[in-house]
Amino acid sequence: MNAASSPVLTVRGLARTIGARRLFDITELAFPRATAIVLTGVNGAGKSTLLRMVAGLEPAPGATAHWTDTHGSSRSAPLDPFPLELRQRIAYLHQHPYLFRTSVRENIAYGLRARGLPRHEVARRVGEALGWAGISHVQDTAPERLSGGEVQRVALARAKVLEPELLLLDEPTSSLDGHAREQVIALVRELADEGRTVVMICHDRDLINLPGVVRWKLGDGHLDTHHR
Ligand SMILES: Nc1ncnc2c1ncn2[C@@H]1O[C@H](COP(=O)(O)OP(=O)(O)O)[C@@H](O)[C@H]1O
Ligand SMILES: [Mg+2]
Repeated sequence: MNAASSPVLTVRGLARTIGARRLFDITELAFPRATAIVLTGVNGAGKSTLLRMVAGLEPAPGATAHWTDTHGSSRSAPLDPFPLELRQRIAYLHQHPYLFRTSVRENIAYGLRARGLPRHEVARRVGEALGWAGISHVQDTAPERLSGGEVQRVALARAKVLEPELLLLDEPTSSLDGHAREQVIALVRELADEGRTVVMICHDRDLINLPGVVRWKLGDGHLDTHHR
């Protein structure tokens, strides 16, 4: 397979048991490149846990990751400890994003500064991301004053600015309605159209029905990647 059609990431041996209950035991999970995927399953099925393990936010003992690096070479490593190279390629958005109590602008700039980008480059990229998410008017606002929809858009801008290949979104529209929900759906659609892989846990019909969306369903310890 060439780089264009090979998965953006493949994870093997991803398993999680809580008490006596097996949430999932996945032999191999390939994240197809440039694809929007909706992950469904009943409450408590383990959807958030699965994505958090893939993002390195929860330990995934025994699991391995396989991907292609920027030079086109095949790479693989245990998921635990989480490889730095994957940290730069994968973004996870919590259902209720946590923003630092500084300003919107600072929240978006944080990851770029952490990467050591020069100040003018940080300012340029943050300006672009603010415009993209339609939040330039709140750039100097304290995050605790934002609406739920604005918080989601700041979180999406903060992720997009780092240009991840794989975005994992945990119920991005579940706490929104009306115009705020539509704005977030439009941004998610743009991320997918840009050629990123977007996996979203959601029950939102409008997201599930986006063109070309692939459906995954988690239930009874099994992940069905051909769900219709
Ligand atoms: N750290 C934890 N300790 C104990 N139980 C947990 C922990 N994390 C998740 N769970 C349980 O694991 C199950 C799956 O949770 P979660 O991944 O949040 O499911 P979903 O996102 O599909 O609703 C739930 O029953 C939850 O209570
Ligand atoms: Mg969840």
